[in-house]
Amino acid sequence: MKLDTLTALAAERKDQSILDLFNKDGNRAGTFSASTGDLLIDYSKTQIDEDIRAALIALCDDAGLSGRREAMFSGAKINETEGRSVLHTALRNLDGGPVEVDGLDVMPDVLDTLQRMRVFAEEVRGGAISGVGGSFTDVVNIGIGGSDLGPVMATLALAPYHDGPRLHYVSNVDGAHIADTLRQLDPTRTLVIVASKTFTTIETMTNARTARAWMVDGGGDPARQFAAVSSAMDKTEDFGIPEQRVFGFADWVGGRYSVWGPVGLPVMIAVGSNAFDAFLRGGQAMDVHFRAADWVENMPVMLALVGIWHRQVLGHASRAVLPYDQRLLRLPSYFQQLEMESNGKSVAMDGSSLTLPSGPVVWGEPGTNGQHAFYQLIHQGTDVIPCEFMVAAEGHEPELTHHHRLLLANCLAQSEALMRGRTLEEARQRMADKGLTGDELERQARHRVFKGNRPSLTLMYPKLTPFVLGQIIALYEHRVFVEGVLLGINSFDQWGVELGKELATSLGPIVDGEEKADSKDGSTAALVAYALRHRD
Ligand code: F6P
Repeated sequence: MKLDTLTALAAERKDQSILDLFNKDGNRAGTFSASTGDLLIDYSKTQIDEDIRAALIALCDDAGLSGRREAMFSGAKINETEGRSVLHTALRNLDGGPVEVDGLDVMPDVLDTLQRMRVFAEEVRGGAISGVGGSFTDVVNIGIGGSDLGPVMATLALAPYHDGPRLHYVSNVDGAHIADTLRQLDPTRTLVIVASKTFTTIETMTNARTARAWMVDGGGDPARQFAAVSSAMDKTEDFGIPEQRVFGFADWVGGRYSVWGPVGLPVMIAVGSNAFDAFLRGGQAMDVHFRAADWVENMPVMLALVGIWHRQVLGHASRAVLPYDQRLLRLPSYFQQLEMESNGKSVAMDGSSLTLPSGPVVWGEPGTNGQHAFYQLIHQGTDVIPCEFMVAAEGHEPELTHHHRLLLANCLAQSEALMRGRTLEEARQRMADKGLTGDELERQARHRVFKGNRPSLTLMYPKLTPFVLGQIIALYEHRVFVEGVLLGINSFDQWGVELGKELATSLGPIVDGEEKADSKDGSTAALVAYALRHRD
């Protein structure tokens, strides 16, 4: 990606006030926004102007984006380091045509598995499939990373539609997680779903074995009360999960892109198959938009280009995701994996070193909570942190519309405050109004200055329905894809997680006290010695 033009524009516009851009162009909000259906992204509160946008858009053609996009949708093996297609989009291709991998249409299998999921989910919800002690009151999903974050995020997001059994998610290998979860449950009326693409992930398999022992000890029956979600069918069988309770998916679905298929089974059990279908249709609608819309109107593309402008051109190292929607509590964590596992790479697809910064650190919390915690730094810290606000036009609680209006007002106030700031002159006036004078007025005023001109964008949606959630998730997936194409990296592998896993395996016997730590560095050996000394 050649950024010379953009770097020159950035230098020229270094002191460009965003507020002035609004003063000059009464229609700026309309010009610098993109929408599809009822979803809207407003990126007008950034320094992006017509020239910058044109230069950003030119990057798409330079990178051959439209070819790469079609390569993905049509099943080409674009995950080159793993030799795989990337077809999570097939999982939501409810109304589309065939999708081929190696000359074979994958859609019959996708739709067949989806239908099996629907039947299973509805039978669990209706009590036709039950535990030893009766219908299932609780479902525990055991998985980690992509086999956890997607369903956790979506279950919480769709709480108003949740009319199935209670859902619990266990991910951490820390025994505290499973112990605290199982303590409250009846082992004869709990369904356990073991979700792991590989069915080898140590955290998941350790937790699954613990849950199985708990169920047996408590009079439940794992053969009846366990289900599995995986692409390693041989391993699910070895674990003792009957074939009819196994929901498979192919290796062309990446873990962090897998919520649309069997990994979404707990969500379907929670909200029902119709609501889950609506979620899939939301994702599908975004796919159709992404494939058809011109770059300037294309939401994922424009979202990606705003990201490139802030990270690769201006060098801002992090990006805050700030949903003003309590039910999107886990969305920042979900986006963290989506963006950072996909685009946190230093090597380009061809093996050369990346000459540009990789994707940003993604983090965040729902508003308004964050306002009373870390927003201080966003407003007055020395680093600029581009913010991405999200908010619904209306909430799900008709009796609490005054809450929602406050929420919305706060969201809009934050992006306005970031842009507008407060000058020293204005701060002085405030102090004078409070009766301060002289040195004290000056000192106090300086603490109350907001530099302003801090960029943000806002995603608005009518209401957080299953369809809208599907649109939002697919929007961000494609955003990550576009950023990856422009950077020339493979967004679909994750070799960076391997080394730690290997070393954890080699440390197992050392931490158990069965092997000495001599092969380890001094720090690691000393930390192991500390742990061994302090063990009962
Ligand atoms: O360690 C990273 C990772 O491979 C993620 O990419 C993945 O989502 C997670 O582990 C869980 O993997 P699995 O579904 O195979 O258990």
